[in-house]
Amino acid sequence: MSKNVVVIGTQWGDEGKGKIVDLLTEDVAAVVRFQGGHNAGHTLVIEGNKTVLHLIPSGILHENVHCLIGNGVVISLQALIKEAKKLIENGIPVFDRLKISSGCPLILPSHEALDLAKEKKLGKSAIGTTGRGIGPVYEDKVARRVLRVSDLLNKDSLREKLKNILNYHNFLLTNYFDEKEQSLDEIFNQLLDQRDLILPMISDVSGILDDYHQQKKNILFEGAQGVFLDIDHGTYPYVTSSNTVSAAASIGSGVGPKRLDYIMGIVKAYTTRVGSGPFPTELHDKYGEHLGSVGVEFGATTGRPRRCGWLDVVALRRSVLNSSISGFCLTKLDVLDGLEKIKICTEYKLHDKTTSNFPLEISELDNCEPLYEEFEGWEDSTKGLKRFSDMPLNAKKYIQAIEEMLHLPIDIISTGPDRDHTIIRNNPFS
Ligand code: IMP
Repeated sequence: MSKNVVVIGTQWGDEGKGKIVDLLTEDVAAVVRFQGGHNAGHTLVIEGNKTVLHLIPSGILHENVHCLIGNGVVISLQALIKEAKKLIENGIPVFDRLKISSGCPLILPSHEALDLAKEKKLGKSAIGTTGRGIGPVYEDKVARRVLRVSDLLNKDSLREKLKNILNYHNFLLTNYFDEKEQSLDEIFNQLLDQRDLILPMISDVSGILDDYHQQKKNILFEGAQGVFLDIDHGTYPYVTSSNTVSAAASIGSGVGPKRLDYIMGIVKAYTTRVGSGPFPTELHDKYGEHLGSVGVEFGATTGRPRRCGWLDVVALRRSVLNSSISGFCLTKLDVLDGLEKIKICTEYKLHDKTTSNFPLEISELDNCEPLYEEFEGWEDSTKGLKRFSDMPLNAKKYIQAIEEMLHLPIDIISTGPDRDHTIIRNNPFS
């Protein structure tokens, strides 16, 4: 029987989704991105070679797999072409494998300028965005003024539509933000140049997905960012501008929710976050330094150091609830190797009361003191292990404790960056 599997991040992004998507792609006909844009950074390591993808689905390295960009994704044509050309130089025929929905909003250079100007104006309260224009383009989508991929099809009306949107952007840039104007001619000519490469890839993504379903083929839906960066369910306002919960896979690809069979939640063995916003289990001690340096915790898109902390089960319970997680994939367990003790936050203390719930007011997360259960660490390396039975006893206990706390199985354990550094206990496609 064919299956539709969704892979999402259950924390603040950077859980290691790219590697797992690449791995699970062995069993699928297509991989679909459904939200976000080139703010994402998915790192794949295959036989020691590292590839970082931002916009193109992480299945692209596989022959005979279609990579689809669904309507929920916002596209910078400049970023897309740059990423594609780099892959093509390495022998990957990107333009043969990639299809793009006609409904994707287009990120213009003026969206980037607005993103940077907004952050500058916010000063100390800045969100810490990736500066890729993501927020402004989703704003324009909701305001019904955005250019969509389908607008590239009609060259004659394209300039007029672009003129209207730039009038608005330039008004904001010059009058509100005190920034430079963006040139209509320059952006229009850029779009015309990019258009020829893009036109052959424009497709009916939801139609293609339905065809695969009829042909009983497996599909993988690749999320970007993580549940706590969700515009509705995340740590607002310190979030991205798309929905990152599992339901977005349906809206952002045009496949009805009843067709999603298994939701895989990717969870890092500890927690990280890039950018501003609350983070109850954040560490500022030698353990935090260990996680950051051994885990090489630097943003794949911006290179910024990630904030690090212990695993937070109060937050993860929320992810399970918001995203109907079927099972987990635990990543970067090897980063914990050699620590004498490891902690998991099981409850928060808020205004002298103990709670196992996320606070109603997100800003209260800043006042939540994490309460921990402590675990003994392990000396032996788990790096590259391929069998659960080879794990050090205390690592097994740590994994089992997470399963018990979340009442869900950890179906895959990633023990290193390479494709084969993986323990598959239950393949979601089988
Ligand atoms: P934006 O998505 O560029 O608007 O940034 C909003 C917030 O989401 C910032 O805190 C970013 O650091 C964060 N963010 C966006 N994309 C990613 C990602 O792929 N991984 C981790 N954090 C991200």
